[in-house]
Amino acid sequence: MTTKKEYRISFTKKGLCNILKCKNPDSMLKDAEKNGLKKTLTAFDLIILGIGVIIGSGIFAVVGIAAAGSAGSPGAGPALVISMIIATLACIFSALCYCEFAAMIPVAGGAYVYTFATLGEFMAWMVGWVLMLEYGIGYIAVACAWSNHFMQFLKGFENYLPQALVNPPAWLVSDYNSIIAQYSDNASSVMPHIFGIPIAINIPAIAIILLITWILKRGTKDSTLMATLMVAIKLLVIALFVIVGAFYVKPENWVPFAPNGFDGILSGAFIIFFAYIGFDALATTAEECKNPQRDLPIGIIGSLLITTIVYISVALVLTGMQPTSGVEIPQGFLKAPMAYVMTMVHQDWVSGFISVGSLAGLTSVLLVLQMAATRILYAMSRDNFLPPIFRKLNRKTRTPNVLTYLVAGMSIIGVLTLDLNAAAELCNFGTFTSFIIVCVAVLILRKIDPDRYRPFKVPFSPLFPILGIVCCGGLMVYFLLKSASVMSSVLFPIWLGIGALIYFHYGYKKNRKKEARILEIKNRVIEKLKMKELEKNAE
Ligand code: ALA
Repeated sequence: MTTKKEYRISFTKKGLCNILKCKNPDSMLKDAEKNGLKKTLTAFDLIILGIGVIIGSGIFAVVGIAAAGSAGSPGAGPALVISMIIATLACIFSALCYCEFAAMIPVAGGAYVYTFATLGEFMAWMVGWVLMLEYGIGYIAVACAWSNHFMQFLKGFENYLPQALVNPPAWLVSDYNSIIAQYSDNASSVMPHIFGIPIAINIPAIAIILLITWILKRGTKDSTLMATLMVAIKLLVIALFVIVGAFYVKPENWVPFAPNGFDGILSGAFIIFFAYIGFDALATTAEECKNPQRDLPIGIIGSLLITTIVYISVALVLTGMQPTSGVEIPQGFLKAPMAYVMTMVHQDWVSGFISVGSLAGLTSVLLVLQMAATRILYAMSRDNFLPPIFRKLNRKTRTPNVLTYLVAGMSIIGVLTLDLNAAAELCNFGTFTSFIIVCVAVLILRKIDPDRYRPFKVPFSPLFPILGIVCCGGLMVYFLLKSASVMSSVLFPIWLGIGALIYFHYGYKKNRKKEARILEIKNRVIEKLKMKELEKNAE
């Protein structure tokens, strides 16, 4: 009889072996076949989801700061295109590693699953936990950005809509920290208090989270249809910007090309990296692909390349329309650069379309981020790291609805409490960490399981995975040394610590219990067989 105590982690050779236990990719495939998600996604759907999750606030907002710089970081200027190429390279090396794994082990869970196959149970849980920073916390940051864009959009109808809708009290449409930043000493007086605590309820952010949850609940195919519509709108709007803007480009604005030299280019690369975050979310939908071996590499690399072409075109037009050095940079350019430059050349109608496009863009980012977060949690629950209720699928849509609601609930709590700057930084930490681990995992699996069938192989291995580690590691270290706030540098290790505690108190014990149960059943069967054998011999 096994006692509860025996399931606890012990710091012995046995305990170490347990946390390093890898899951065989074949058993993952078998699990997914038995209880898997519904297979509905094609290569086209994947490219749409990819563009849907990649193109968002990065290009509609952050690009202005990357080009012109801010208090803490020098701008890249017109050399932003070089920054973009550097960010693309960092992503491409990691993306190729994701493709090798996604085609080889096409089950829900992405980087979490790949780590389980190579670095063992503890690291797998930690990667899943860290991915929640990328998808979950990133989701909260984008929901708040959506709220800002939405309020900006409503302001365009100032003359037609009631004032209460266009200019509501800040505490109803903003998060707590933004109000503090905006009103500084006065902040407390613009917020109501409950038990002495000032309250801010970002209603548009909460509303978009509820809407996305409703769409996701309807199933993956409906969600992809919605994403297709959003992607079409945002690509049309960006094309409109590039075509109209090209007529207003002044080549003299491209000189000097790199006003802040290599420092500006590198800082721009780091900032604009946010605009590429999300392609890895495609790997989490592997189990829902009709032909994952062929379609996932097409979806991941295809959406990344299309995005790069779109970004470089926008960067050339933007920096050709607005001088980014030697002049004072207007706030409008830093907040919504595409809409701002169009207003400057009196093309207000294009500016209006850009507002609609940015809302559509952010909506599709939210859709895929929430979907990715639930798929990872689903995979973790299937491996006993989370309670069984979370692996329950809706009978009709075969989607994990309980998890969809859980992610929505947690995100709403995040919107009400989190500091958005720290959230964005935490999101970067999560992304870099998972990219680096996937590159390492490719190298390990090539060593420990060289004969496994790989429908897609990273070219020039080990060079490309190593370059992925160097690029992402380099950007992470650069970020830590130059820009990371004290808040995020402290919160990241705390997040890791909480993750480790949950694993040792829940996941570790559950998995040992499961192993003990399997062993018990095995022993019973062996005993029964032995008894039968003895009975036979006695006869
Ligand atoms: N890449 C996503 C965006 O730019 C996160 O919004």
